Amino acid sequence: MTGLITPPSGAAHARISGIGAYRPRRVVPNSELVEAIDSSDEWIQERSGIKTRHFAGDGESVIDMSEFATRDALAMAGIEAGEVDAVILATVTHPYQTPAAAPALADRMGMGKPAAFDISAACAGYCHGISLASDMVRGGSARNVAVVGVERLSDFTSRTDRGTAFIFGDGAGAAIVTASDTAGIGPTVWGSEGDKWDVIAQNESWIDVHEQKLDWPTIGMQGQRVFRWAVWSMAPVAQRALEVAGVTVDQLDAFIPHQANVRIIDAMCKQLKMPDHVAVARDIVDSANTSAASVPLATERMLREGAAPRGGLALQIGFGAGLSYAAQVITLP
Ligand code: UT7
Repeated sequence: MTGLITPPSGAAHARISGIGAYRPRRVVPNSELVEAIDSSDEWIQERSGIKTRHFAGDGESVIDMSEFATRDALAMAGIEAGEVDAVILATVTHPYQTPAAAPALADRMGMGKPAAFDISAACAGYCHGISLASDMVRGGSARNVAVVGVERLSDFTSRTDRGTAFIFGDGAGAAIVTASDTAGIGPTVWGSEGDKWDVIAQNESWIDVHEQKLDWPTIGMQGQRVFRWAVWSMAPVAQRALEVAGVTVDQLDAFIPHQANVRIIDAMCKQLKMPDHVAVARDIVDSANTSAASVPLATERMLREGAAPRGGLALQIGFGAGLSYAAQVITLP
């Protein structure tokens, strides 16, 4: 005999109710990095917009950084740690193949026994997490979801690679996704282009490192290829995220793209015909490219500095290794 399964039922809508950030104390200016890559502060600023980045301190783990960011996000949301039903942690720099960082974060924060797992979608990880969390809240598998984007990229960056040494930084950002009476997270436009798997990648597999006694692996990037892809392919994805949300570019208060390069951000604004009144995130200047952490770090900063209004509409998009991307319109917490 076949029984009928009770269908899942959740909230009508979801929204981001809190955001938090953690920037490591150590600030590293371009001048500290240029000698090893025969570069200059001027070149780095002109080609990428970056002036400084933060590097995590000795022993400061992705879990430590996540904890600070998540505590701030919970405080803004007005939610206790014990009310979190699920933790989604996006990272590519947790140094354990297994287990995931999320269960340890949940335990550290006294969340009880929530569902907790990591996702690997590089610089698009946080926007993937927001999409999953929104679906979970609306599907009924969680009421409150903590979404964390965190990286300690300084561990996986070669200080002598001219193409990446100045690009990456460390940090953590977190959001709390909760039930809402109105839609606070629009439909996600996302995808991947695995034929370009090699353009941003760890240079050696762990197996090869072990068996061939190779040096510690770092993340390599074919900068020009990624740059062209980001400029030409990501503006249409952002445009589709607006369309599926039923929002026009004029209605936006903020544009929060992945912080990869100021020139990419400027080119996307031009293609999207971003009006002057829309605040555009440029956290990259001080924080560099923090991969999964870049969108929540930039969001927290815009709200803290008053560049974007609480309750305003923002278009966010993450893109990077995979190649993977995800974009959605959100209501700012
Ligand atoms: O987070 C995931 C997504 N990531 C991205 O979206 C990053 C996308 N890529 C980029 O942001 C840029 O490609 C970089 C900022 C990484 C590099 O800028 P670029 O304008 O693409 O530089 P390039 O590699 O085309 O090199 C231009 C010139 C070359 O010299 P010649 O051949 O024109 O004489 C390079 O040798 O600059 C030289 N160069 C450097 N000079 C000083 C390359 N790297 C450096 C350097 N310092 N670090």
